[in-house]
Amino acid sequence: MSQVFEAMCVHRSLLLTWVIIICSFMTRHCVASQKKTSCQVQDGRADCSHLSLRAVPPDLPRNITSLDMSHNRLIGIAALSLKPYPRLIHLDVSFNSITKLEDSLCQTLPFLQTLNMQHNEVHFLKKEDLNHCTNLTLLNLASNRLKLHGEPFSVLQNLKFLDVSANKLPSPRLGSQPQLPSLVTLNLAFNEITALKKDDFSFLNRSSFLQVLNLSSVSLKTLDPGCFKPISGLRTLIMDMSNMGTLAISKLCSELAGTSIDALSLRKMKLVTVTNTTFTGLHKTNLTFLDLSYNGLGKIEGGSFQWLSRLQTLVLAHNNIKHLTKETFEGLKGLKKLQLTRALVKSHTSSTQIINDFSFQPLSSLESLILQNTAVRNLTEHTFTGLTSLKELDMSWSSYTVLRNITSKTLVSLAESPLIKLNLAGTAISQINPGSFSVFKNLTTLLLDNNHIKQTLTGREFEGLGQVQEIHMANNQQTVNLSSTSFVYVPNLRVLTLGKSLRSTALNLDPSPFRPLSKLTVLDLSNNNIANIRENMLEGLVNLKVLKLQHNNLARLWKSANLGGPVLFLKGAQSLTTLELDSNGLDEIPIDALRGLSNLSELSLGENLLNNLKDSIFDDLTSLQIFRLQKNLITTVRPEVFKTPLSNLSLLVMDKNPFDCTCESILWFVTWLNNTKMTSVPALRDQYRCNTPLAYFNRSIADFDTLSCKDMTPFQALYILSSTVVIMLMVTALLVRFHGWRIEFYWTILINRTLGFSDAKVEEGREFEYDAYVIHAEQDARWVERRLEPLENDNCKFCLQDRDSVIGTPYLQSIVDNMRKSRKILFVVTESLLNDPCCRRFKAHHAYHQVIEANRDSVVLIFLDDVHDYKLSSALLLRRGMLRPCCILDWPVQRERVPAFHQKLLIALGMTNRLQE
Ligand SMILES: *[C@@H]1O[C@H](CO)[C@@H](O)[C@H](O)[C@H]1NC(C)=O
Ligand SMILES: *[C@@H]1O[C@H](CO)[C@@H](O)[C@H](O)[C@H]1NC(C)=O
Ligand SMILES: *[C@@H]1O[C@H](CO)[C@@H](O)[C@H](O)[C@H]1NC(C)=O
Ligand SMILES: *[C@@H]1O[C@H](CO)[C@@H](O)[C@H](O)[C@H]1NC(C)=O
Ligand SMILES: *[C@@H]1O[C@H](CO)[C@@H](O)[C@H](O)[C@H]1NC(C)=O
Ligand SMILES: *[C@@H]1O[C@H](CO)[C@@H](O)[C@H](O)[C@H]1NC(C)=O
Ligand SMILES: *[C@@H]1O[C@H](CO)[C@@H](O)[C@H](O)[C@H]1NC(C)=O
Repeated sequence: MSQVFEAMCVHRSLLLTWVIIICSFMTRHCVASQKKTSCQVQDGRADCSHLSLRAVPPDLPRNITSLDMSHNRLIGIAALSLKPYPRLIHLDVSFNSITKLEDSLCQTLPFLQTLNMQHNEVHFLKKEDLNHCTNLTLLNLASNRLKLHGEPFSVLQNLKFLDVSANKLPSPRLGSQPQLPSLVTLNLAFNEITALKKDDFSFLNRSSFLQVLNLSSVSLKTLDPGCFKPISGLRTLIMDMSNMGTLAISKLCSELAGTSIDALSLRKMKLVTVTNTTFTGLHKTNLTFLDLSYNGLGKIEGGSFQWLSRLQTLVLAHNNIKHLTKETFEGLKGLKKLQLTRALVKSHTSSTQIINDFSFQPLSSLESLILQNTAVRNLTEHTFTGLTSLKELDMSWSSYTVLRNITSKTLVSLAESPLIKLNLAGTAISQINPGSFSVFKNLTTLLLDNNHIKQTLTGREFEGLGQVQEIHMANNQQTVNLSSTSFVYVPNLRVLTLGKSLRSTALNLDPSPFRPLSKLTVLDLSNNNIANIRENMLEGLVNLKVLKLQHNNLARLWKSANLGGPVLFLKGAQSLTTLELDSNGLDEIPIDALRGLSNLSELSLGENLLNNLKDSIFDDLTSLQIFRLQKNLITTVRPEVFKTPLSNLSLLVMDKNPFDCTCESILWFVTWLNNTKMTSVPALRDQYRCNTPLAYFNRSIADFDTLSCKDMTPFQALYILSSTVVIMLMVTALLVRFHGWRIEFYWTILINRTLGFSDAKVEEGREFEYDAYVIHAEQDARWVERRLEPLENDNCKFCLQDRDSVIGTPYLQSIVDNMRKSRKILFVVTESLLNDPCCRRFKAHHAYHQVIEANRDSVVLIFLDDVHDYKLSSALLLRRGMLRPCCILDWPVQRERVPAFHQKLLIALGMTNRLQE
């Protein structure tokens, strides 16, 4: 049993080892693949950092002006190796192991202006090392092991910035002769300076531009009187992290008395107490900026700042101040900004107020008061009294019990303040009562994010905020309810954020709560799980530019199956430039949902269920720049849908869709992707994958072979050809069916014009007196008279029995003679003819006889009635099939076809009588 267990353990640890090996291999591989392997050159700058180089590469472009060799393995910078790059202005050789500066460096690089050598191992530095470096303006020698010999910096006539921090220098004295006439900033931080002697700065005697001195993290113990005298033009002194103690600080301040000091930074100095004499020395200065943050400052004695009447900014952030009294800020009558973020703490022992009444009264010029993250118990009616210039108050992320239920009394101490911005985010507000903000007549921005407001906004909460332009109320736990009057008192509102604040039913209102906000430009309603909104929600918001509706539940509203049709709630907002509708479960976009949004430049529809998009739904979005459709169910990207929105795009995000990589679905899109130059499509290779067909499954759509679609071309041609033929046949059939006679008419005319009237030989007509012998029933005489006789002319003569029989000849004999004299025999076929015994018996029989006897194909039939072939054959012994088709004519019912009939008749009469073989 234990053996099995042991074996399992061994097996498992082996497995673990393998996993570790594989993992480490993979991560290393990964990291290695991202690392650059050679210098990158762009715009005259060569970046050769982090390449483990031991020398300057010789093959960079000659004309580079900037070379970054930082984080390599250089042990020196041979002037020779820089010879190929004489135009260098900036050289960075920081973070190497260089031990020495070569004297000909600046000779080789006459234009060099900045030289960064921090984090190297330069030790001895002599005047010759920097010879010829007169053009240098910046020299960074921080974190070396400098040991100065003579006056190494004396040649640097143009140097503005010198950093010799972290070099274990024992003294700030960098020379004995006056030098560095152009110096502006000197960094001496992190050195082992313990004293400032009277002459230490005398080498800067003539440096009239010196403004900034950094002495951070030096443990100054003694300051000789007059030590700052040579640099009395100093404006900024940074003493952060210097371990000095309160006494040394007040000495420092006294020494600064004769200077132009303007900003003093005393951060992280463990300055636990400030007394009414600490800053006495600054009385005669014009100090405007004092930073005392991160000091663990617990006590500020009354009157401590009375000397700083010109101070404009006081930073007391991150301290442990337990008590502010009306004396604390005494004398700060010029103060404009007071920063108290995390400055005040609750005392465990005392339950007195942290901020006494009238504490801020001396600050009559204060414009900005930051009380972020501050443990203040209470606000009284005099907490902020006297702040008559206050424009901005930030009380965010603090817990004031009185703010839980804000009433018209809570902030009454600010009544005299012309407040413009009030930040009450994260202050645990749960209820706002009517008139709470009514004293803020000039307020433009009200921040109420991240609270627990749980009420229906009736509108009176914002009473008096007639000038307010922004109300931010996001992240209020979806517990805010709205009414139609919620915003009636804030008609100037431009920005309203209600993300993750509203109950899901809050917007199902008529009239819409936003109705009074005609100046609104930004409306955030995201993350509210809203399912019901009215079509008129945005009505009247003619200036609305940004609408955020992501993470709601609006899918039903756009379904075509929605009761009463889709709800086109964007109708009122034609000025929109940004619309966010991500994560709404949308699976349909109604055809007119995005109509008229021609200013829209950003549309986000990511993480929905969109698949089959209707044609032209995006066609009005002609200004679109950014289009997000990631994580939907889109399989097909068709030009009918996407051509317009993709035409001006700068960013397309459409990854993680199950693309169907077939020619019909994706060819157009892939072609567009291959050709687009101005649109950026991030992660195209990795995140745009084919889902179908199987052959392409999980491959990048960038791999889709567009050429494979070209093979379809012959088939397409064939398809087009065959469909064209079919369509033409159908058209012809229809034409023939409805206009056949007309076509035939023009055809016969064409034939006649080109070939002449007849195919009969000219001599064929000569033997006959008449062109046609007309056989008709007695009843049809009138038709013959009206319709046939008018056709007679010199070329065409009919023989009519009644008219043309020779008087005195027996009737039958005359028929026989006349028939013989006629080239054709014309039957006017009607029911009457078939019933006429004479015609039927004699004339027809004779005609028939003659046809056979003369071997002539000379019969022409004109049908006035629709006579059945069977009757025709029994009465006249003729069948339609026996005659040539052109010899069978139908008298047309329609008048307009009569000319055509005449034409045909003339043709029929002109036909040869010879039998066709
Ligand atoms: C440097 O020279 C290259 C050609 O050698 C040229 O293409 C480039 O524009 C030049 N760059 C600068 C900053 O002069
Ligand atoms: C300093 O730069 C100028 C051009 O800006 C050049 O003419 C001059 O020679 C340089 N000085 C030195 C000492 O190299
Ligand atoms: C302070 O500023 C005033 C003018 O605003 C000027 O006259 C005075 O010399 C300045 N004091 C110092 C110490 O720079
Ligand atoms: C400083 O405070 C002490 C009492 O703590 C007081 O006697 C002294 O007068 C104050 N000094 C000044 C300059 O306000
Ligand atoms: C807060 O201040 C008000 C007004 O001064 C006072 O009535 C109330 O008791 C104070 N609340 C606390 C908890 O100190
Ligand atoms: C808030 O104060 C109002 C009026 O002072 C009061 O009617 C209401 O009950 C209070 N609400 C809470 C939650 O304490
Ligand atoms: C509000 O602003 C107006 C000018 O916009 C100004 O005249 C007025 O004094 C301000 N109100 C307060 C209380 O400062």
